[in-house]
Amino acid sequence: MQILPYQPDQSGMAYPVGTTLDRFIKLKQSDFPFASGELSQLLRDIALAAKIVNRETNRAGLANIGGAFGQTNIQGEEQQKLDVIANIRFIRALSKGGEVCAIVSEEEDAVIDLQNSSGKYVVAIDPLDGSSNIDVNISIGTIFSIYRRKTPIGSPIQEEDIMQPGSEQVAAGYVLYGSSTMLVYTTGFGVNGFTYETSLGEFFLSHPNIKAPKVGKIYSINEGSEPEWQIGIKDYILQCKQNGYSSRYIGSLVADFHRNLLKGGIYIYPATLKNQSGKLRLLYEANALAFIAEQAGALAIDGEKRILEIIPKSLHQRTPLLIGSSEMVLEAQSMLQKSKLPLSQQMSESLEG
Ligand code: AHG
Ligand code: MN
Ligand code: MN
Repeated sequence: MQILPYQPDQSGMAYPVGTTLDRFIKLKQSDFPFASGELSQLLRDIALAAKIVNRETNRAGLANIGGAFGQTNIQGEEQQKLDVIANIRFIRALSKGGEVCAIVSEEEDAVIDLQNSSGKYVVAIDPLDGSSNIDVNISIGTIFSIYRRKTPIGSPIQEEDIMQPGSEQVAAGYVLYGSSTMLVYTTGFGVNGFTYETSLGEFFLSHPNIKAPKVGKIYSINEGSEPEWQIGIKDYILQCKQNGYSSRYIGSLVADFHRNLLKGGIYIYPATLKNQSGKLRLLYEANALAFIAEQAGALAIDGEKRILEIIPKSLHQRTPLLIGSSEMVLEAQSMLQKSKLPLSQQMSESLEG
């Protein structure tokens, strides 16, 4: 009689495709030998809120019809916009768990102090990214960054707990509510993507150890703003066209970033004449995606320096963003450097040209 040990997975991968997010988080806790499990719980809280927002997203069309007829919800409140709902859902999830002491949200002017004496993490979040795409049934997302607070647990929140550079992130991720819903995150040990299986209500590992191609054939930029670009950006995009690259721009940063991460490509939201710091926010848009990009072997810069090295000066600070396949970002950076004129001069020349 032959007895063979059960071999559950033939791939030899430590974390096989199909592992649930919950189990994956538990297994990966060993990456942090001294951690007490709070970060793991925090990631689970975020995943739960993502499931709820996913449900609301799928009903967005109906909610709008309801709104058009002045329909109210069960509490008698007017139907709220999805970005407001997402904000409420994530804040609720983060405040209930007990791991978080403060939240920075795109939807809130001030820092939310949860007055939670045991919370050691700070979360920065864009609860609903790509909000202009909600009403037209196009992919939207959520972006989050997690930091460890600098001041002692239990003491009042200070500016230094909030204004940390992206290099201090302990975890970051995004949720993409698209043709399927995905959660992609990193804790600084590579990037992993999970796809939501609606009927089971679970995220399953579908994209283990994501690595971005070094170069791709996609560029993503709002070409409507071309008259306001710096010369270096104009030159780079012209080169993309001469190379025969495809232009793809959804207008939801998460969706554009995700596609380029998997297929290879560059996303650019540059400084323009109207918005000299670009449009995107450092704390809850650029930093998280920059951390993920670098963990996947891609790059993220503001035109000159790494996004992750920028010391934030204000809560809702904006930054130009060039992010994606490493060789493409480096090429765009060198073309920007070649046009060494001061920014104002470059822009006026660019407008004349
Ligand atoms: P948000 O919906 O959180 O305000 O973010 C919108 C952002 C980003 O998702 C997108 O890439 C960009 O705005 C699009 O801006 P333009 O319409 O100027 O291209
Ligand atoms: Mn956004
Ligand atoms: Mn938003």
